[in-house]
Amino acid sequence: MTKLLFRTNRAIAIQVLSRYKSNAAPQTLTTVRIKDKDHITDEYTNVTPKILSYLGRNLHLQKGNPLSIVRQRIVEYFYRRFTHRGKPTFSVYDNLSPVVSTKQNFDDLLIPNDHPSRLKSDCYYINKDTLLRAHMTAHQTELLRSGLDNFLMIGDVYRRDEIDSTHFPVFHQVDAVRSQRKEELFCDKPDLEIFEPEFDSSNPNAFKNSIMDPMKQSCHTLEATKLMESQLKNHLIGLCKALFGENIKHRWVEAYFPFTHPSWELEIYYENKWLEVLGCGIVRNEILANIGPNNSIAYAFGLGLERLAMAMYKIPDIRLMWSTDSGFLNQFQIENINANITYKPVSVYPQCTNDISFWLPETLTVDTFTNNDFYDLVRDVGGDIIEQVKLKDKFIHPKTKKHSLCYSIVYRHLERTLTQAEVNKIHKQIENAVVKNYNVVIR
Ligand code: DAH
Repeated sequence: MTKLLFRTNRAIAIQVLSRYKSNAAPQTLTTVRIKDKDHITDEYTNVTPKILSYLGRNLHLQKGNPLSIVRQRIVEYFYRRFTHRGKPTFSVYDNLSPVVSTKQNFDDLLIPNDHPSRLKSDCYYINKDTLLRAHMTAHQTELLRSGLDNFLMIGDVYRRDEIDSTHFPVFHQVDAVRSQRKEELFCDKPDLEIFEPEFDSSNPNAFKNSIMDPMKQSCHTLEATKLMESQLKNHLIGLCKALFGENIKHRWVEAYFPFTHPSWELEIYYENKWLEVLGCGIVRNEILANIGPNNSIAYAFGLGLERLAMAMYKIPDIRLMWSTDSGFLNQFQIENINANITYKPVSVYPQCTNDISFWLPETLTVDTFTNNDFYDLVRDVGGDIIEQVKLKDKFIHPKTKKHSLCYSIVYRHLERTLTQAEVNKIHKQIENAVVKNYNVVIR
């Protein structure tokens, strides 16, 4: 039995096993292991260990990642805007597994079999029935089926695409559904209806719903469609203003999605260009009717977090979202998610981090030692190659009661790569200066 194992730095591994049947000619079955589950591969399989290594990074949930800040601002906007008796109307799902079936990603959303978005060249397939979701809309039907009517789905999506400063094979989306029944939509106009008289919502299959009319689906009344459209557009423009400020210039563009009708895209004017930020529309009634008898109308939308974050914070390259460099991440360590941040480029040369730990003299404690003085001293000795100094640990020895501090010093030159040897030399000079100034003992 041959066994190949590519381990990634996460708990996810792609494992290719060859299994032989005991009789006849050996037949090879290979499997891909994702989060402890083996998936049988076939001629559709095109996920790579590299792509699988992004699963579980959940950038949208990492404190201090710009995507997480934008996620929180969007969720907060919907919580604020839709509260009923002090409780948010929208439920939020931000931890759904990105491994989905082709039924979830395509069929349930009425995406035709020959639609280009299904192509192997566009998606990361695990096998012909399973893929890494290509959009968060893939979860729409299962959540509707579970009985939810207002919800946000947030997570990582995977698409094979070009490589440039605005495209990366993994990005993040917020997708949403808001459904309303007649009593809610027309609460002050009880004589209006959601459905045309020919449509019987208890027997939806008796009616062939059509999208020939550009204004609406044939089962819906024009009043219901128009009211939903105006609410949808208002809420989304409200969101853009909450993210970009009152003066953001925007425009609506007619669009087509297999799962909504009518459909639109919203573009904002950013750096002298129109930038598409979201797709939306009135959910095709067939999707709701396939789940079961239904008397509501829904709108849905999907937006890309990277696009928004790059525009909001002026982040020039999408790869920076994946950066673990503290020079990047620390710029987004904020208490107030609405703080104004403009990204300041960090050097392209690598960082070098050395720790310094010392015992304080009896005249000082971990609480009376002045961090800022120490920072100045480090800067005085190290000069401009000091990028950051962070307090890492405070410690009081349980027996001797001696106090000790540990700091991380991050070194980086803006014009060249520093060698570890030269960093060590400067680090030593800093240690000597700290000993001299504070009478500490290096640990
Ligand atoms: N899923 C679409 C995409 O990834 C975006 C989208 C459009 C989502 C319309 C929706 C919607 O929920 O109603 O391009």
